Amino acid sequence: MQDLFCRRIDYLRISVTDRCNLRCVYCMPAEGVAKQRHSDILTFEEIEEIARAAVELGVRKLRITGGEPLVRRGIVELCRRLGQIPGVEDLSMTTNAALLPHMAQDLYQAGVHRINISLDTLDEDKYRRITRLGSLADALSGLRAAAEAGMAPIKINTVLIGGFNDDEIPALADLTRRYPVELRFIELMPIGHAAPFGPEAYLPSQAVLERLPQLQREGACGVAALYRLPGAAGRVGLISPLSHHFCGQCNRLRLTADGKLRPCLHSSDEVPLRGLHGPALRDAIREAVRRKPERHGPLSWSERSGAGRDMNEIGG
Ligand code: 5AD
Ligand code: SF4
Repeated sequence: MQDLFCRRIDYLRISVTDRCNLRCVYCMPAEGVAKQRHSDILTFEEIEEIARAAVELGVRKLRITGGEPLVRRGIVELCRRLGQIPGVEDLSMTTNAALLPHMAQDLYQAGVHRINISLDTLDEDKYRRITRLGSLADALSGLRAAAEAGMAPIKINTVLIGGFNDDEIPALADLTRRYPVELRFIELMPIGHAAPFGPEAYLPSQAVLERLPQLQREGACGVAALYRLPGAAGRVGLISPLSHHFCGQCNRLRLTADGKLRPCLHSSDEVPLRGLHGPALRDAIREAVRRKPERHGPLSWSERSGAGRDMNEIGG
């Protein structure tokens, strides 16, 4: 599918739940989410039907997100079903990794061969502070389990937060010296619960280059600018939604757990898909592509995202 600005739309992110076993302070309220009734969440049959329709229209890449996708019961089976859709070339997942020690092998066998893991700090106390509930040891076990299951590449998503983890930029980047991982620093976006942070939390990714002048530019892949520490096994990525908006390369649609298709992360515009089948479903997907804006409005500490929902509902 091509949108009105000649962008090729071939990537669908599927949020399978808005629940999570953690409560990252920039993502969710402390008390968690008001439990969506089970009937509000798309069934596996509905998700598969939507994915098939999107693939018929040219989508080639699927990413499973949440909330935390691994807390949805039966998630391995859903992955297997999505991976078997003819035309799907790439099936991936974004997870906090806490449940990966038990699930990585089954996921790999179900067709999830690469994975993005959210990890904002290498300090156990800080990990608990930022996730409110999590354990760094669990996340690192999950990372190891993904590698042992054969998943590659493994990408680590680190939200760069001034005053919280900017002192860890060298230690985090150092992971790439020892392991063939891609460590991606992502600028904190002013969405939903990211609101309580002060201006100092919104660090430009340039701060990483200032801390690590030895980084060598290697190119760009999708939304990430890629660098390497001299001799390192893995790479460092910079994802800069605030300082360098990448709308021109945007190739994606987002499906929320309750069945709305979002043309843009930073707009509240949604196309409801529930109850649609066949040609009507395909028309609605095309409509979402037509409604993709050329770019989103300015994002900064004082100019909040127009997303209108928290990240756990949109899937990042
Ligand atoms: N800004 C930047 N990244 C965010 N994520 C969640 N909320 C935000 C935010 N406000 C990240 C998570 C996860 C990915 C899905 O999005 O850390 O890695
Ligand atoms: Fe859960 Fe991910 Fe949101 Fe953290 S960022 S609360 S791990 S959904």
